Amino acid sequence: MNVLIIGGGGREHALAWKLNQSSMVEQLYAIPGNGGIAEIAQCTFLPPDDFPALIRFVREQDIDFTVVGPEQPLVAGLVDAFEEAGLPVFGPNQAAAQMEGSKIFAKRLMKKYGIPTADFAEFDDYTRASQYLKTLPEGPVVVKADGLAAGKGSIVCQNKAEAEAALNALMRRRVFQAAGARVVIEECMSGPEVSIFAITDGRDYLTLTPAQDFKRALDNDQGKNTGGMGSYAPTVYLSEEDFQRSIREIIEPTLNALQSEGITYKGVLYAGLMLTESGPRVIEFNCRFGDPETQAVLPLLNYDLMEIFQAVRWQELGKIRLPESGRSAVCVVAASDGYPDAYKIRKLILGIEQAQQKALVFHAGTMRDNGGMRTSGGRVLGVTGVGDSLASAREQAYRAIERIRFVGMFYRKDIALEASQV
Ligand code: AMP
Ligand code: GLY
Repeated sequence: MNVLIIGGGGREHALAWKLNQSSMVEQLYAIPGNGGIAEIAQCTFLPPDDFPALIRFVREQDIDFTVVGPEQPLVAGLVDAFEEAGLPVFGPNQAAAQMEGSKIFAKRLMKKYGIPTADFAEFDDYTRASQYLKTLPEGPVVVKADGLAAGKGSIVCQNKAEAEAALNALMRRRVFQAAGARVVIEECMSGPEVSIFAITDGRDYLTLTPAQDFKRALDNDQGKNTGGMGSYAPTVYLSEEDFQRSIREIIEPTLNALQSEGITYKGVLYAGLMLTESGPRVIEFNCRFGDPETQAVLPLLNYDLMEIFQAVRWQELGKIRLPESGRSAVCVVAASDGYPDAYKIRKLILGIEQAQQKALVFHAGTMRDNGGMRTSGGRVLGVTGVGDSLASAREQAYRAIERIRFVGMFYRKDIALEASQV
């Protein structure tokens, strides 16, 4: 099969790496891909929202199957456009992608079907939202833009003054444009966070190894929120009992709720959960694989990913049983000075080959140029170690990342540190 991957981050490199191992896959393509993906796939640039151009490309290149990495094209309806054109594709359609595209949609669904999540109120009017805020007791509260905001639309506020400032930024200053036209104000929960990926064909589902993501830029969860500075799997904070409880109280009821609403969800449903004192509760849903969780989770998958994607297409996922991996993976992200704010690009990256002798190196913001690999983004590489224990996976990842150098490179030193000592 000729398989196209849409996207160009570390997640997409991990998807390409895994699909490249499938005996079903002959040639990989990527739009736009990156410097690492280009080593195993033919990369082309096309605007990801130009569906007619993408469809033309798929027909011209005889592509048999397309896998969509990021949320934007899913929320914009890429899958609907491809299905109308009769082209096989992995990912939820526009109606299903609302699980990520609209926080209000997801919150209403959870409320209607009794799925545990933070209590909330929704607003499309700044004055009303601000008045409601005044009625709340002083303390932490979370303000969220309804729409997509590149992972920055959830603002955890320590007090009401911060929450008021967040409301003002989202609803009046429209810092995330239309995404802030509606907001959710919700209860602030606390506890460890875990990411569960359920692959579903609209009838059955499989879960991958639960992972943990490190969102803050600096060690000890200091600094700004980022797209994710590292990840590991399986997470030690989710006991088998809590995992089963999450499946029973969250994953299955959510998939059933979608069916009851007449939505056939095909693709990955990513549940971001918080393990609170009253049990696992939903922070948010995403309609795709996590980044950088995928870079830790796919190396633990002992199954042909293309076969899984085909089973989703034909609604035959019920026939697949995934073997337990029994191993652990740790992914550490190498980022460029300034990230998550402004950063320089085109910096020469050295040491990738040495690092690859010890671990998997997934490219995120890289491009090949004048014979060398250069940076092209804020998150540059994700280095994944795999081992029989979390501690050995961690050691491999860190030994490998130490070999990599570029000007202004930084990475967290504490990815999976606490977890490996539990
Ligand atoms: P989200 O964009 O919804 O994933 O939120 C980003 C981060 O904000 C999450 O990973 C949590 O750390 C935090 N967060 C979001 N919602 C809540 C909540 N209701 N209570 C506590 N923390 C939250
Ligand atoms: N790692 C967080 C995300 O993919 O949204």
